[in-house]
Order: sequence, then structure tokens, then C-alpha cells
Amino acid sequence: METSTRKLDIVGICGSLRAGSLNAMALRLAGESMPPDMRLEVIDWSQVPAFNADVLERAGPPAEVRRIRERIARCDGVVIATPEYNFSLPGMLKNLIDWLSRGADQPFARKPLAILSAATGPLGGARVQYDLRRVLLFVDATVLIKPEVFIGHAQSKFDGQGRCTDDATRQFVTAQMLSLERLILQGRLLEQG
Ligand code: FNR
Repeated sequence: METSTRKLDIVGICGSLRAGSLNAMALRLAGESMPPDMRLEVIDWSQVPAFNADVLERAGPPAEVRRIRERIARCDGVVIATPEYNFSLPGMLKNLIDWLSRGADQPFARKPLAILSAATGPLGGARVQYDLRRVLLFVDATVLIKPEVFIGHAQSKFDGQGRCTDDATRQFVTAQMLSLERLILQGRLLEQG
């Protein structure tokens, strides 16, 4: 049987662009909590412009969008950590997915993907996750069903250096990353027939 020592390459997308983002901290926790055969790279998508179908039609996707499309297309899995804005997705994150979704070579198609959300409120972004799942249905992503991770009162669960101080949160995220690893490996077995 063929074995590979290459680590599973996981792309991290933070739905918040602010420097002190709690979701960026949650993404970092996800990276720390992964099994040893997984490696997380959080991508910078802050320069993606507002979607405009005229631009797409005239000139194709902007270079930033092409770069991110290619990065996602070649990774083994994706983790999105996002805040909830007004009970739904941050507009910028939806804008990013809208850009990435255009074109025949859909980068999210059959891509194993896990969602986390961190919020200052008690529900931890429960509502954004279901809206995000609905959007990701359209792009054919293979979204991990459970365990779900909602980090409520997130400001009390990370220290000044952005490290998680809450054992329960750490355990939930560790379990989710283990499940993402399983989803990726199961998908590979299916592909091999
Ligand atoms: C919020 N916040 C918020 N929280 C929540 O639980 N449900 C919501 O609907 C909203 N709506 C909302 C809208 C906007 C425009 C902002 C800026 C914030 C609060 C949110 O949870 C908090 O600001 C988080 O800290 C945002 O995540 P980051 O930036 O820390 O990752």
C-alpha cells in the first residue's frame, strides 16, 4: 500500500479582518489543536475587491482572487472561523466566496471544510453557521457536520496574547479537527475506490 509522509495541507480563512479578531484567535487554536499530520496556513484575503460581474466578464477574476482560488484548489481541507454580523455572514466573507465561486474550476467542490465561530455574545455565532452552510452548499463544499463549535463570550476565553485559556473550548476544537482529519481521509479512500 502506498503511504505518504506529506502533511495534510489545511487553509484557514478568518471571516474578520480586524487585527485583534477573536476568530483569528479561534483559527490559531484550530491550528494548535490539529492532529500531527495536519498543518494550517491562514491566508490573507484582505485585498480582495468588491465583487463586480462586469469586471469578471471584461477581465476575468482579479489576481488576488486567482491566487486564493489556486491556493484553495490545491489544499486538502479548509477551516473557516467567522464572526456573526447582524445574525448572518460578514459581507466581506460572502464577497470572497462570491468571487471564488465564479468559474468552471470550482475550488470548494468536494473540499472537506470545518466551520467555527467566535462571538462576544452567548450564542457564539450560532446563526451565522447555518447561513454559511447554506452558501457552501451552492459551491459543493463537503462541510463537516459535527462536532459544531460555537465560542460564546469569546473575549473571556483568550488571553492578551490570543491564546485560549478555556479547556472546554480547546477540547471542542481538538475534537472538531480530529473529525476534519477523518473526513479528509475518508474522502481519499472513496476516491481510490
Ligand atoms: C457584531 N457582533 C455580533 N455578535 C453576535 O453574536 N451576533 C450578531 O449578530 C452580531 N452582529 C454584529 C455586527 C457587527 C457589524 C459587528 C462589528 C459585530 C459582535 C461580534 O460577535 C464581536 O464584535 C466579535 O468580536 C467579532 O468577531 P472578531 O472580529 O473578534 O473576530
